[in-house]
Amino acid sequence: HQPNSIYEAIGPEKIDQLVEAFYKRVSNHKDLIPIFPDDLTETARKQKQFLTQFFGGPPLYIEEHGHPMLRARHLPFKITPTRRDAWLSCMDAALDEADIKQPYKEAIFERLSMTANHMMNTPEDEK
Ligand code: HEM
Repeated sequence: HQPNSIYEAIGPEKIDQLVEAFYKRVSNHKDLIPIFPDDLTETARKQKQFLTQFFGGPPLYIEEHGHPMLRARHLPFKITPTRRDAWLSCMDAALDEADIKQPYKEAIFERLSMTANHMMNTPEDEK
């Protein structure tokens, strides 16, 4: 049958693989290292919960942490256009590593790009 959500189409294992592949890159990206914790275990756990609900699966993030308020939760970190681009480039490569196929790859990337734009809170020269 036709999947009703990205979550249904790709399944939870792909979300796990995607998030692991993503933070492996984040932890090695020169523009992102300064704002992320050294140990990304807890960050990755929360991101799996968040993306599960973002893609139309069960509301795991809200159940444990309440309303995401993502922009507010990102305000302690200086998110410049360069860091937005870095985040999205790690995600683009992670989507390939997790072997997430079209049309889902493009649908996911488009939604994450919109959210990433919304997270920017600092002009480039204040980095
Ligand atoms: C947390 C950076 C975009 C979802 C974080 C943290 C940083 C960060 C530094 C804190 C990590 C920690 O202390 O554990 C960025 C940067 C982005 C970006 C530079 C570039 C635009 C996004 C987007 C999403 C997202 C697009 C969602 C699609 C989350 C979630 C958390 C988080 C769910 C965990 C929040 C919590 O503590 O409960 N991000 N982020 N981020 N980010 Fe982002």
